[in-house]
Amino acid sequence: MSEHIHPIFDKILSRGDKETFLNQRSVVLWLTGLSGSGKSTIAQALEQKLHEAGYFTKLLDGDNIRVGLNNNLGFSEEDRTENIRRIAEAAKLFLEGGIITLCSFVSPTNDIRNMAREIIGSDDFLEVYVNAPIEVCEDRDVKGLYQKARAGMIKQFTGIDSPFESPEAPFLELRTDQEDLTTSVDRLWEALQPVIKREVPAS
Ligand code: ADX
Repeated sequence: MSEHIHPIFDKILSRGDKETFLNQRSVVLWLTGLSGSGKSTIAQALEQKLHEAGYFTKLLDGDNIRVGLNNNLGFSEEDRTENIRRIAEAAKLFLEGGIITLCSFVSPTNDIRNMAREIIGSDDFLEVYVNAPIEVCEDRDVKGLYQKARAGMIKQFTGIDSPFESPEAPFLELRTDQEDLTTSVDRLWEALQPVIKREVPAS
């Protein structure tokens, strides 16, 4: 009978093992958009909803990562690229741990987002465009940064003197100037459901 026994103790646990344990399929949800477009608010609300429904999640957010892991980086194109490269590598580690990973970063160009997609793997990378016109974001000016950028106190500010390119074919676009938070989060939730459901292998 021993030839039919396959010990797993000496094998490295796979992503599938972790996903089975957590009863979910892991994925990276990548929220991109201007500062003040609503990325973090949506990501936080969605994480809360996922948590309450029993999903295991991790949220990576621009301002938090920039005071820790990436505290040596600024906002030149080169530094933004390195910022996103490290974040994508970190997100991939969470992904491999079976965790639904929410990333909320300006990630302003197609090149930068494509790099993240390549690191993470396109099957597991869901790009969400959190879209509000610059005028709306500037009007909201939640952190007071647009005013400072207009006054020349902050250089290379996205949407002012640094570019933002709209994603070409996002998984989902959320127009936060046209729909309220609950609507955006619900739409994201609905789109995500078929992706994160664990397919139970036939026994
Ligand atoms: S990214 O471009 O490299 O993806 P990231 O998402 O990490 O940016 O950080 C953006 C946040 O940093 C903004 O939400 C804002 O609070 C702050 N910030 C400070 N300076 C800038 C700047 N020059 N451009 C954009 N955001 C800035």
